Amino acid sequence: MNAPAALEISDCVALVTGANRGIGKGFVEELLAGGARRVYAAARTADRLEAIVALDPERVVPLEIDVTRIDLILAAARRARDVTLLINNAGISGEAGQRRLIGTPNLDDARLVMDTNFWGQLEMCRAFAPLLGENGGGAIVNILSVGALFSLPEFGSYSAAKWAARAMGVAVRAELYAQRTLVANVYPAGVESDMSKNTPGPKLTAREHAIQVFAALAQGEQEIFPGDAATKFRDPIAADAAAFDRGVLERFLTSPLG
Ligand SMILES: NC(=O)c1ccc[n+]([C@@H]2O[C@H](COP(=O)([O-])OP(=O)(O)OC[C@H]3O[C@@H](n4cnc5c(N)ncnc54)[C@H](OP(=O)(O)O)[C@@H]3O)[C@@H](O)[C@H]2O)c1
Repeated sequence: MNAPAALEISDCVALVTGANRGIGKGFVEELLAGGARRVYAAARTADRLEAIVALDPERVVPLEIDVTRIDLILAAARRARDVTLLINNAGISGEAGQRRLIGTPNLDDARLVMDTNFWGQLEMCRAFAPLLGENGGGAIVNILSVGALFSLPEFGSYSAAKWAARAMGVAVRAELYAQRTLVANVYPAGVESDMSKNTPGPKLTAREHAIQVFAALAQGEQEIFPGDAATKFRDPIAADAAAFDRGVLERFLTSPLG
């Protein structure tokens, strides 16, 4: 059986969710610079995409996708039948003060985080997998987080959703192997965006992040850690995950952040 092929963005037809800002916008810009044939830029409402379409009205096609709405996902799949690269980027971190799993008044926000970051990614994979197969295999890129590797209480719901999405990506990768779809899990650490604006530490620009992800896909990599900030988490966790988790616990006991 032929393995999934490495992905070159030149001449690909991509769909990016959450394309209107942040990391998603960086992907669209880099796809256009790299010679993509068409980019479906998806956002919750089309009016948020005017500036993105203006980047290249011939190649950028706006799509309305709220990833928590299966009806909109299925409508997009009926329209964008030529997709060869699906980038599941849309995500939320949850409301400050409601991300703990025990110390939160209720689980409403945690459910929305799971609906968006986990179920939304999975529904997108399910809707587009048959099309990718028909189009020769292609690739799915699921944007996770280093938060898929460890859990901080102050980001409990976010980590739970990203861990679940990580497991989903590994299983979907195996399911789609026979149709030669490359399924990549991406673990960013710090990338400039609205989501990360209050997080300290060095950050890649969204364009630099996209460049690193596409370079890894061109090598056929399926577990992608963009930038030093991401490998700084990957390496100690790979060496001794239990010690890393103990360190988190000790830090939390001495400094219980909100
Ligand atoms: N920035 C980082 O350092 C970092 C680190 C690790 C992982 N990530 C991940 O990277 C991805 C992009 O995040 P970002 O940093 O670019 O954040 P961002 O600037 O907050 O952008 C999030 C994007 O997701 C969209 N979105 C949210 N909920 C959606 C929904 N239900 N349906 C469709 N689109 C939705 C937003 O659309 P609206 O404009 O309509 O809200 C926006 O386009 C996320 O999955 C995030 O978890 C980011």
